[in-house]
Amino acid sequence: MAQIIDGKKISAQIREEIAAEVAQMKAEGTVPGLAVIIVGENPASKVYVRNKGKGCAEVGMYSEIIEMAEETTQAELLAKIDELNARRDIHGILVQLPLPKQIDERAVIAAISPSKDVDAFCVENIGEMMLGTADFLPCTPAGIMQLLARSGIEVAGKECVVIGRSNIVGKPISQLLLAENGTVTICHSKTKNLAEVTRRADILVVAIGRADFVTGDMVKDGAVVIDVGMNRRADGKLTGDVDYASVEPKASFITPVPGGVGPMTITMLLKNTLTAAKKQK
Ligand code: GUN
Repeated sequence: MAQIIDGKKISAQIREEIAAEVAQMKAEGTVPGLAVIIVGENPASKVYVRNKGKGCAEVGMYSEIIEMAEETTQAELLAKIDELNARRDIHGILVQLPLPKQIDERAVIAAISPSKDVDAFCVENIGEMMLGTADFLPCTPAGIMQLLARSGIEVAGKECVVIGRSNIVGKPISQLLLAENGTVTICHSKTKNLAEVTRRADILVVAIGRADFVTGDMVKDGAVVIDVGMNRRADGKLTGDVDYASVEPKASFITPVPGGVGPMTITMLLKNTLTAAKKQK
């Protein structure tokens, strides 16, 4: 029987801490502000963006959602980013991904001032993370580290296995686990004998975007299992990358989907916006 890592509860605790700091900053005359740009009509992106706005309101931050048309040109988007880079009431800027095909994602990320890049997607912020000197950490990996720390799970000396090598989750979480002195292995679609590797894991992080991919036979008794997956089943239900029914009985700790890693992402975005506001003050 695994202990369930309650991402909603931990997220609520951190939001309370953030709200207290925001109240303090407001008393001193600064309201942290986040601008979120969405280009086009992607329904999932619209939900994420709305939730980011709600998260800001919950902790007392200012937010501005900027909706741009599907046919927006790259030049128009870059001009909007320039305008936000110059604004003193906006401390964080986030451009919701994916972007329409006429726009070069890398050029857009590079246009955001690194001091306002609260996603921590730009080259400079990724470099700072590698060096261990970052002000902002990418939100989902930072959220996972908070879940581990606040559940009393030590990383130092542990065998950590990450399945997935995306720029948003797999690569950065591997780096953060390493920074905490974990022994880290990164697996991906070309990995041979995947189950042999995953069975070594004391801490297993799964971020591949395939429903119920990790099954009980791939997990060591007593492992900590972190499921980053968010997949929609045919019946509309949300499910992770981990087959919860077969893995939960073997794990010591497990994150559910929904209610595990998911709630932490926006919370860490709020934390990064608070940090940005403090730095720019
Ligand atoms: N699209 C899906 N996840 C994210 C995220 O964390 N940040 C941004 N900007 N876009 C996303």
